[in-house]
Amino acid sequence: MAKETILLAFSGGLDTSVCVKWLQEKHDARVVTLTVDLGMVDLEEIRQRALQIGAVDALTVDGREDFVRDYVFPALKAGAIYEEQYPLATALGRPLIAKYLVEAARRVGAGAIAHGCTGKGNDQVRIDVSVGALAPDLKVIAPVREWGWNREEEIEYAKRNGIPIQERNSRFSTDENLWGRSIEAGELEDPWSEPPEDAFAWTNPISKTPEEPTYLEIAFERGLPLSLDGEEMRSVDLVEHLNGIAGQNGIGRIDHIENRLVGIKSREVYESPAGVVLHAAHKALEAMTLSKDQARMKQRVAQEYSDMVYNGLWFTAHRRDLDAYVESTQRHVTGSVRVRMHKGSCTVVGRRAPRGLYSHQLATYDRGDTFDHRASEGFIAIYGLPVRTQTRTQGEGEEA
Ligand code: ARG
Repeated sequence: MAKETILLAFSGGLDTSVCVKWLQEKHDARVVTLTVDLGMVDLEEIRQRALQIGAVDALTVDGREDFVRDYVFPALKAGAIYEEQYPLATALGRPLIAKYLVEAARRVGAGAIAHGCTGKGNDQVRIDVSVGALAPDLKVIAPVREWGWNREEEIEYAKRNGIPIQERNSRFSTDENLWGRSIEAGELEDPWSEPPEDAFAWTNPISKTPEEPTYLEIAFERGLPLSLDGEEMRSVDLVEHLNGIAGQNGIGRIDHIENRLVGIKSREVYESPAGVVLHAAHKALEAMTLSKDQARMKQRVAQEYSDMVYNGLWFTAHRRDLDAYVESTQRHVTGSVRVRMHKGSCTVVGRRAPRGLYSHQLATYDRGDTFDHRASEGFIAIYGLPVRTQTRTQGEGEEA
C-alpha cells in the first residue's frame, strides 16, 4: 500500500522541524510541508530547510495580499480589538493559513494536516476548527500536543535525528505577520516585570524616537485605508510603510493580561504599529460619519467580532453575518484623518469627511449658529418629565 501523505504547516522553527521527522516515524508517512508568508518570511530559505530535513516536497505561498484584503481590513472596519488591547494579528492569520493548508492538502492528496501548535494555546483551536469548517473529512494532527516533551527532550530528539538547530535561541516565543508581532514566555510570564527592551523588534524605545512629531494624513474610502499623505498605495505596502513610521515613533507596544479561550490568563506583549494607528484613524472617521445609534451598535458588534476572531470562528455563518452588518455601516466612512505620532503616542488631530454628520452651523457658538435654542425648552420639559414625576410621587430626587 502506498504511504499516507501528511501536509505539515512549516515555519522552519524547532517545533515544526522536529514534526517532520516525528510524523515520518510515528505515522510512517510522506511529509509535504507548506510555508505561508503573511509578512516577514523568507520563503526560499525555509523551503530549503524543509527539504534538508526530509520533506518529500516543500510548498510555499505568498499570502500577504489575501491576508490584508480579506482578513486584516475587514477586522479593521469592524473595529476588532480583543479585550480593547490586542489587534488580533496572530488570530487573523490562522484561518488563512488553515485555508491554504486545506487547498494544498487537496492538491497533494493528503489525508491529514499537521501543525506545530501546543496544547494550551488558542492557535491549535483556530487551526483545527478552521480546517474542520473547510474540510471536515481531513484529519488534524498536532504532534507537539501529543509528544509531551520539554525543550531539552525536543532538542535531544532533533540532535539524534540530524535536524539542524538554529542557535538563535530567543527567550521568547514569537509569531509575526504584517498586522503585528506577538511575544510571549520567558520573563514576560511574570506579570509584574516590565518587558525588557529585547522583547521588541518593530518599535523604538522612547529614548530612540525622533524629537520632532511626525504628521500623517490617512485617506479612507468606505472604511478602507487608501493613501498616506496623498500617495495611493497597495494595501500591503500601506501597512508595511505605516509599520515603519509608527514603529520608529515608538507606537504600537501593547502589554496585555489576556483571557485565552482555553481558560488560562496569560501575559502577552504585542507590537502592532500600523494596527494601532489605523484603528485610531478609522475610529475617528467613524465618529464623523456614523450616527450616535450606529456608533453605539457598532461598538457592541466590534466586541462580538473580536471574540469571534480570537476564538477561531472565522469560517462560520456568524462571521459572514457580522461582516455584512459591518460592511453596511461603512457606506459613508470616506474621508481623511490627520494623526500626530510622537514619543510612543498616536493622536488624531484632524478629520474631514465629505458626507460627515458634523455640522459647523449647528455646533458653533459664534455667528452663523442655526441651532434653535428656544426649541430646547420644550425638549427638556418632556425629556425631564419622568424625572420630575418620580420626585413628586416617590421623593427619589436626591438620596435621603
Ligand atoms: N496570544 C495571542 C493569540 O492568541 C498570540 C499567540 C502567539 N502565538 C505564538 N505562537 N507565539 O492570538
